[in-house]
Amino acid sequence: MRRLLAANWKMHLYPEEAISLLQEIRSLWERNGWQTLPTVIFPPILYLREAVSLLRGMTLAVGAQNGYPGEFGAFTGEVSMAQIAACGAKWVLVGHSERRYYFGESHELLQQKLKDAQRRGLSVIYCVGETLSQREAGQTFDVLSQQIEEVLQGEILWEKLAIAYEPVWAIGTGVHATPAQAQEAHAFIRSLLQAKGAPAASMPILYGGSLKPENASEIFSQADVDGGLVGGASLKSESFAAIAACLIAGKDHTQLAGSRDPQSEAPLESEHSAH
Ligand code: 13P
Repeated sequence: MRRLLAANWKMHLYPEEAISLLQEIRSLWERNGWQTLPTVIFPPILYLREAVSLLRGMTLAVGAQNGYPGEFGAFTGEVSMAQIAACGAKWVLVGHSERRYYFGESHELLQQKLKDAQRRGLSVIYCVGETLSQREAGQTFDVLSQQIEEVLQGEILWEKLAIAYEPVWAIGTGVHATPAQAQEAHAFIRSLLQAKGAPAASMPILYGGSLKPENASEIFSQADVDGGLVGGASLKSESFAAIAACLIAGKDHTQLAGSRDPQSEAPLESEHSAH
């Protein structure tokens, strides 16, 4: 089971605030010796290069919240996956519900983005999740299946892929999924990946949606929850670090309880490390 923690800053922070937050996160990770926790920061694209340079040499990687397929072209306002990779970022988010619903991104476009990102050397966090009305109509599994099936088709580099389960009703609402709801969805997603021939047991499946220091431990304690994609609580170094501490405590305990020697983590960890 893979661990991964990610911060999605969305459209927040002025430049000096972003730099301070990066510096605070960097020193907290150094001070706490969290070298074994693969962590990715997704700042607004404006701060990408600065973030890469500030976090160089750390286990903290940088990703873009969005990218466009292709290298160059007449696509005003867009930034290509190739440009993102050339700036030193290692990750990109694809399929976030805010892109699906506010910007109308189709499964066809998401598939192009995901494949192009991987082709350019980027790892992808592919986000899936149902709306409240879909959940209430009993369609959660159908929606998750469709989001996985229609986008993860053809040549997918599984070692460059993590999934984030982000129920839309939990994003920014203060209402998080219960540990049981998260576990049910994550186990289902893992079974879908398995059925597609992916190395599902080693793929990180992150939970996102109102993740806070107060609820992180119980959510991370679930067998199929490998980490988190944190929005609002990642905008303060203290709360993001507190969530990191929950992940480290919870999953270290799980790993010690299993048969795997913590040292034997290393090759797998680097396979899915943040870098
Ligand atoms: P919140 O943590 O603010 O609910 O956002 C979750 C999210 O959308 C992360 O991508």
